[in-house]
Amino acid sequence: MQPRATMPAATSSLLLLLSFFFFTFHVAQTTANNDLQTYIIQVGNPQGRTLAESEDVETWYRSFLPTTQQQQQKGNDRLLYAYHDVISGFSARLTPSEVKDMEAKNFFISARPERSLKLQTTHSPKFLGLQQRQGVWKDANFGTGVIIAVLDGGVLPSHPSFSGHGMPPPPAKWKGKCEFKDSSLCNNKLIGARSFNLAAKARSNGTGHGTHTASTAAGAFVSNADVLGNARGTAAGIAPSAHLAIYKVCFPDGGVDCAESDILAGMDAAIQDGVDVMSISKNSKQPEKQLPLVFAGAGRLSNSSLCGEGALNGLDVKGKVVLCERGIVGRIAKGQMVKDAGGAAMILMNKEIDGFSTLADLHVLPAAHVSFADGEKIKAYINSTRWPTATVVFRGTTLRDTSTSAPAMLSVSSRGPATQSKGILKPDIVGPGANIIAAWPFSLENATVTAPTFNVMTGTSMSCPHLSGVAALLKGSHPSWSPAAIKSAMMTTADVTNIAGKPIVDEKHQPADVFAIGAGHVNPTKANNPGLIYDIKPDDYMSYLCGLGYTDQQVGKIVRRNIKCAEQEKLPGGQLNYPSFSVTLGHSQTFTRTVTNVGTASSVYAVKINPPSGVYVTVKPSILSFSDMNHKATYAVTFTRARNNTAIRPFTQGYIAWTSDKYSVTSPISVTLQ
Ligand SMILES: *[C@@H]1O[C@H](CO)[C@@H](O)[C@H](O)[C@H]1NC(C)=O
Ligand SMILES: *[C@@H]1O[C@H](CO)[C@@H](O)[C@H](O)[C@H]1NC(C)=O
Ligand SMILES: *[C@@H]1O[C@H](CO)[C@@H](O)[C@H](O)[C@H]1NC(C)=O
Ligand SMILES: *[C@@H]1O[C@H](CO)[C@@H](O)[C@H](O)[C@H]1NC(C)=O
Ligand SMILES: *[C@@H]1O[C@H](CO)[C@@H](O)[C@H](O)[C@H]1NC(C)=O
Repeated sequence: MQPRATMPAATSSLLLLLSFFFFTFHVAQTTANNDLQTYIIQVGNPQGRTLAESEDVETWYRSFLPTTQQQQQKGNDRLLYAYHDVISGFSARLTPSEVKDMEAKNFFISARPERSLKLQTTHSPKFLGLQQRQGVWKDANFGTGVIIAVLDGGVLPSHPSFSGHGMPPPPAKWKGKCEFKDSSLCNNKLIGARSFNLAAKARSNGTGHGTHTASTAAGAFVSNADVLGNARGTAAGIAPSAHLAIYKVCFPDGGVDCAESDILAGMDAAIQDGVDVMSISKNSKQPEKQLPLVFAGAGRLSNSSLCGEGALNGLDVKGKVVLCERGIVGRIAKGQMVKDAGGAAMILMNKEIDGFSTLADLHVLPAAHVSFADGEKIKAYINSTRWPTATVVFRGTTLRDTSTSAPAMLSVSSRGPATQSKGILKPDIVGPGANIIAAWPFSLENATVTAPTFNVMTGTSMSCPHLSGVAALLKGSHPSWSPAAIKSAMMTTADVTNIAGKPIVDEKHQPADVFAIGAGHVNPTKANNPGLIYDIKPDDYMSYLCGLGYTDQQVGKIVRRNIKCAEQEKLPGGQLNYPSFSVTLGHSQTFTRTVTNVGTASSVYAVKINPPSGVYVTVKPSILSFSDMNHKATYAVTFTRARNNTAIRPFTQGYIAWTSDKYSVTSPISVTLQ
């Protein structure tokens, strides 16, 4: 949905704020400053006054219009709807500059161009597991006595799904109207019908969609229903004995289906008419109830922004959305603090160091976790207006959304380089660790109660078992592979691009460097068939430990037998047969590596070099040929410092890959200066 006008400052901040929840940004297009456009305007009530009478309400709302437009004008009234229950405000046709003038008035809260919504469709009772003789249908007596408002494109009243046969009259609280041309079309099923069409003006007839959704919600049982002979059976709504009140607010016409101001008017009427349930099958980033927004940092303590104990004392957060900063206090505990203080929802913003890494926590109230950059924008927005507001919009679960950058590195993920052993590049590999749903032993409502359930958690603790699981799979399919071989297979086949095919990014949305992702993100399928492996025998580790300068006794403790390093080959750091290269460069350094063929018996690999900047890389030989499985080949790689090596500081990175017609066996390289 695109807003159709450039908005004045406060309003555009609001829209931006909304878009934080959508996690997408909308681009406003320019409209001439004198173009009329429908706005949804929210205002406060004058203090000490209650606006009981609807004339009072309308007069109050009109006082926000331009002076020349405050009187009701037949045929050209700028005020479209005065809302009573659904929001405190109205809709009106205004120019952007008129809106700007309105913002200066006392009790003005917000104004934004209305959006139009697209119609969407619902599900079937069977899919929800509803059965005639038992369960919720029986328990709820099929919805008897309940009134469902359907805000849509109207209905075809003669449809058998809307038959009043066998239905009781509506409950006494019903105050609605039947405004069909022929009011005899209403019955005990179809108890009301109204139309709201000020904003859209009459466009085409949307009764197809409206009929479908109304019958889905509360259609009567209709036997021998089918679709062109398919799916024959008994049709019924989810609540087949409920009453239906129809509010026609959608008049489909190309891109514009339902005008927001008409929908709000329909909702307002439905509330006053006494409905129990409102059914709105729209492409819904709506409806919303805008809430006041407050920054916890406005509290009395110097650290109030953290939403810790006592932080919100003396701050009016009742019914408001509270912005809290991450840190010190647990993320969920902050939400509890906001909830206990009467807050309606929380926006949790990152500290600078957390960047763009956001987490899905099981919060105790509606909450959105935003990046540092977005949090700063929200702070500035709060600071910029007298009545800051926010809206929480639930978008449900989104799977494989290629507009996102998954996988991406979190700020909490461990980073290299390894200080203990400079010859080994760390981290080796990365795996899923953000917002992982897995088994949990306690009730989520009451942590003192043991109950088998599921919970969402984030951390390297969650990433590790994913990689352990992949290793277990590889062990199962290649029982003879050593741990080093399995590790090599996982590392040399890891992905360095995300689902959108772009480089994996870090929490600052920059391409993640080798000290963030190591070889990359694990790819189990490729790891199962890597082509070549870098193997390491247990004795190699002994030589390696001796090479690191440990005493005989220390090495003996690790390998649990008596060792004389003097009698061992000593492997300098970096010479272990590892599937990656961590180079601490003086002038030049050569490493040898041995690869084992586990791909196709007869195969030829050529080296592909992506040299780190400031470093020359040569590989000898540059072709490796194999004539059988498990054959080995050794190569040497030399790193030489270029004359111009300013690019190396603080480090530089690249890779070498052995590629055949079928495989690509990649080793990452990091280079630092000695
Ligand atoms: C809408 O279309 C249906 C089906 O063609 C028709 O029965 C109904 O009268 C139309 N309603 C209006 C308001 O035009
Ligand atoms: C905030 O500051 C107060 C007073 O200095 C201190 O007692 C409290 O522990 C701090 N809270 C947090 C969450 O750091
Ligand atoms: C809020 O506005 C004031 C004055 O306009 C400014 O000094 C302050 O830095 C602003 N704070 C934030 C968080 O933007
Ligand atoms: C949690 O469960 C325990 C044990 O059943 C019970 O004593 C306690 O009252 C419960 N707490 C809440 C908040 O429901
Ligand atoms: C040296 O390398 C840096 C970084 O790659 C580059 O910006 C600079 O122009 C180079 N200088 C020369 C003399 O080549």
